Amino acid sequence: MADPERHPFLQGLSKHRGAPPTVVVIFGASGDLTARKLIPAIYNLSFDNLLPADFHLVGYGRKPIPDEEFRAIASKAVADFSRRELDAEVWGRVAANTTYVSGGYDEKAGFERLAAHIAEIEKSAGSQVQSLFYISTPPSVFSPIIQNLGASGLGGRYLGKAHQSKVIIEKPFGRDLASARALNAELRSVFDENQVFRIDHYLGKETVQDLLVQRFANSIFEPLWNRNYIDSVQITVAEDQGVGTRAGYYEQSGCLRDMIQNHTTQLLALTAMEPPGSFEAEALRDEKVKVLRAVEAISLDTDAARAQYAAGMTAGKAVPGYLEEAGIAPDSTTETYAAIRLSINNWRWQGVPFYLRSGKRMPRRVSEIAVQFKRPPGTIFPHTGGFDLAANTLSFQIQPDEGLSLILNAKVPGLETRTQPVKMSFRYATTFGSNTPEAYERLVLDAMIGDGTLFIRGDEAETSWTLYTPLLEHWQSQGRTGMASYPAGSWGPEAADLLLTSRGHTWRQP
Ligand code: NDP
Ligand code: BG6
Repeated sequence: MADPERHPFLQGLSKHRGAPPTVVVIFGASGDLTARKLIPAIYNLSFDNLLPADFHLVGYGRKPIPDEEFRAIASKAVADFSRRELDAEVWGRVAANTTYVSGGYDEKAGFERLAAHIAEIEKSAGSQVQSLFYISTPPSVFSPIIQNLGASGLGGRYLGKAHQSKVIIEKPFGRDLASARALNAELRSVFDENQVFRIDHYLGKETVQDLLVQRFANSIFEPLWNRNYIDSVQITVAEDQGVGTRAGYYEQSGCLRDMIQNHTTQLLALTAMEPPGSFEAEALRDEKVKVLRAVEAISLDTDAARAQYAAGMTAGKAVPGYLEEAGIAPDSTTETYAAIRLSINNWRWQGVPFYLRSGKRMPRRVSEIAVQFKRPPGTIFPHTGGFDLAANTLSFQIQPDEGLSLILNAKVPGLETRTQPVKMSFRYATTFGSNTPEAYERLVLDAMIGDGTLFIRGDEAETSWTLYTPLLEHWQSQGRTGMASYPAGSWGPEAADLLLTSRGHTWRQP
C-alpha cells in the first residue's frame, strides 16, 4: 500500500517550504477559474503545510464584496472543488488572512486602494511581504491591469524592489503573433521577465513532469530517441465535454488557440527537445524554444484539418452539435477539433512526422503521447499466419489513468510459434497512491518561490504563435470552406485520418 506521506510530488515540494511571506492577489476573484482551481489549490497547499507562515489572500474585482462574504464564497469553492474535503482548521488558517478589495481593472483609484491594503498587511506583518498578482480575468482586461500595476507602483520594478512582486498571467497569451508580441511588450514595460509567470497548467501535471524524468533519468531511451529508431509520434488531447458554458470565450478562440498552440505544443516541445544542461528554468526553456524554432512551416492545405462536432452521443446521452449549443452563432467558423502534421527540421527528427490532435466531444477524456518505433527489419516473423506483429509503441498517459506503457511483441505459449502484441504498464495510482496534487498547486507554489521552470517564457509564446498564426489566418480567410464535421462521441473527421494515411499511418485508439 502506498504511503501518501511518501508521495514523490510532496517530497519534491518540500524544498518549497521556504516560500517567503506572500500576499496573493487574485484579479477576477469572483470567476470560474478562481473557484474551480485557484482557491482549492491554495487550500491544499495549506493542508500540506506548504504555504509560508505569513500568507495572505486578497480577492480583487469590480463587484463590491464584503470580506466575510468573499470568505464564504471561497469556502464554498473549497467544499465544491477541492480534491480533499473541507477541513475547518486548515481552511480557518487561510480564511483568517483572506480579504477583498473592490475596484475596476482600469480604475486607478482601485489600484491605489489595493496598494494601501497591501501596505497595511505588510505593516501588520512587521516585515517585507512579496506580492504575487494572479491575473485571472478575461484577456480583454489584461492590459489595463498590467498598466495599473505599473502606475500604482505595485509592479515592483518602479520601486526598485523587483523581488517583491511577481505576476502570474493566464492563457491565452495573445491570440496571434502580433497580439502576443504586444502583450509581452506591455509586460516588459512594467516587469522584468523573471517576475512574469505565464501559466500553462499542463506543465504542472505530474505526468508531464514525469515525461522529463522518464526521458532524462533513464539511459535506455536516449539512444533510441531519434529518426533512426522512431517512426512517428502522436499527441492526443481529447475531451468528452462540449463547449459547456464557455461559449463567449470559445467562439473567439477555437481548438487551435485553446489547446494546440499551448498545451499540445508544450507536450511536443518536451518530447522533442534536446536534453537541457540542467533542470533550471532557463536551460529547459532554451531547449524548448530551440526545438519549436526547428518546426517547419505548416503547409496550410495539406498539413492541417479542422472540424466542428455535430449532434451525437456522449456517455450514452444524446448531445447537440456545436452549432446548436447556447451562445454559438449558427454559421460559426470556430473549430472544435484540429489535427496538424508537423515536421521538425533538425538532426534528431528529420523525416519523423509529429501528429497533434485535440477536440471536444470525443469519445472520452484522454491525453497521451505515443512514440511509435520502426518495425524490425527482416522477415523471420512474417506479417501473416499466426504472426500478429505490432510496432513497438511507448505511450505516456497524461490523463486519466496516469502512467506509461510499452507495446512489445511476445510469443503466444504453445507448440506453434505465434506472436501477439502485449502491453507492459506502469500506473501511478498503483505504485504511488491516487491522491495526486493538482497542477495549480505546484504552479502557484513555484511562482511564490520564483521558479519559472514550468512556466512559458515570452519568446517561447511568440515562437509558438509564429508557427500557428499563418494557419489561423488561412482558416479565417476560408470561412466555413474546408470545415469538416464529426459526430459527437467520435474520434474526429475523415479529413484528419487523411493526414496520416497519406504517410502510411493511422490514428491510435488511446
Ligand atoms: P470568468 O469569465 O469567470 O471571469 C473572471 C472574472 O473576471 C469575473 O468573475 C469578473 O469579475 C471579471 N470579468 C468577467 N468578464 C469581464 C469583462 N468583460 N470585463 C472585465 N472583467 C470581467 O473567467 P475564468 O475564471 O473562466 O477565466 C479567467 C482566465 O483564466 C481567462 O484568461 C481564461 O482564459 C483563463 N483560463 C480559464 C480556465 C477555466 O477553466 N475557467 C482554464 C484555463 C485558463 P468581476 O465582475 O468581479 O470583476
Ligand atoms: C483549458 C481549456 O486550458 O484546458 C479548456 O481552455 C480545456 O477548453 C482545459 O477544457 C482542459 O484541461 P484539462 O486539465 O481538463 O485537460
